Amino acid sequence: MHHFEYHNGRLHAEDIPVEDLARQFGTPLYVYSKATFSRHFQAFDSAFSALPHITCYSVKANSNLCVLRLLASLGAGMDIVSGGELHRALKAGVSPEKIVYSGVGKRPEEIRQALDAGILMFNVESREELRTISAIASESGRIARISLRINPDVDPKTHPYISTGMKKNKFGLDMETSLETYRMAKGLPGIEPVGIDCHIGSQLTSIEPFLEALDKLVEFYGKLREMGIDIRYLDLGGGLGITYNEEEPPHPEAFGKALTERLKGLPLTIILEPGRVIAGNAGILVTKVLYTKSTPSKDFVIVDAAMNDLVRPSLYGSFHRIAEVVEHNRPKINVDVVGPICESGDFLARDRELPNVESGELLAAFSAGAYGFAMSSQYNSRPRAAEVMVDGEVTVLARRRETYDDLVAAEMGCLERVVD
Ligand code: LLP
Repeated sequence: MHHFEYHNGRLHAEDIPVEDLARQFGTPLYVYSKATFSRHFQAFDSAFSALPHITCYSVKANSNLCVLRLLASLGAGMDIVSGGELHRALKAGVSPEKIVYSGVGKRPEEIRQALDAGILMFNVESREELRTISAIASESGRIARISLRINPDVDPKTHPYISTGMKKNKFGLDMETSLETYRMAKGLPGIEPVGIDCHIGSQLTSIEPFLEALDKLVEFYGKLREMGIDIRYLDLGGGLGITYNEEEPPHPEAFGKALTERLKGLPLTIILEPGRVIAGNAGILVTKVLYTKSTPSKDFVIVDAAMNDLVRPSLYGSFHRIAEVVEHNRPKINVDVVGPICESGDFLARDRELPNVESGELLAAFSAGAYGFAMSSQYNSRPRAAEVMVDGEVTVLARRRETYDDLVAAEMGCLERVVD
């Protein structure tokens, strides 16, 4: 469920006509719905209410400070993967004791920063990382709480680029040698093993792979207890999918219920790291038609948003529903919706049946709240889009549109240093 609906043929974000937002803030424009974010977070979080748990929103999905602040105010913790994300989470007022730090390549200065902040735990992905954390923690007299990210070798049946829990993936540690790694962790100075972690992939549309992974982890947990390692947290990562087109992922409630049945009674706090399921359908990307063009083989709709704004279609061949912001009831034709970037891979949709739109009209790409702005770039020296958060009849500018000066600000110093 989301709050982007048509009233009298006009798309609204909550109570505001999207065409008004485009007029006020320009295009391309990311529009978020506060009520949708809140509802998604609460639906997910309450699905686990029978268990001690922390819902650590995965910051990478949408890291806007407005979003982080809102979720923090609802009690969310955060799953971070960089010093930059830690900085954002702390700025947004997230409690450090609800922050978990994932990722295969944490730099020493990032580890130091996270220890200084007092985060809940590091999800460690290699023995070398473990030794690095131990050295940094003991040098500053601190204890780093850690879990090992276990690779349960489960096929999540999703796009290969976002499948992470199979043996061939770069993530985590294999189950076979992990018991030994826990033993090693226990003996290292500055390290306290407190958890087990896994994340098998993203945009999963069935519960089975999660359960398969969970069963393996619970068995593993038993072995750790036998070894005298006191595990208190079980982090199951993120990955629950959403409907972009015709997918029918499990509702968070069903997901929570299935996991709760398996986990009830275990003396563990469960950590979940949802990203897409919270943010995906809480945002749209609004774009203006610049030109239409018919060639003997194809019809094109050229819009002012491009792969630098929303890279998912180009990168993964992902589907985003595209629709008119104001419906005109014109006949549909088959088109490619493409951006201004100088690459043939720059498209938002291919071979799509769309009403015959005209230049100057607005289109919305749906399900763009996760991995939309967060993956955007300035490629082709295109200033990044603005982001707004709508709350009923009120709109907050969540991020101003970048300017040409923003494009060059970090480079200006070179003009003085370059010798002609
Ligand atoms: N935890 C970890 C350790 C992760 O690597 C991820 C996502 C998540 C949680 C959140 O997963 P989610 O609940 O959002 O599925 N850019 C891709 C998705 C990449 C996901 C990377 N990791 C896309 O646009 O589909």
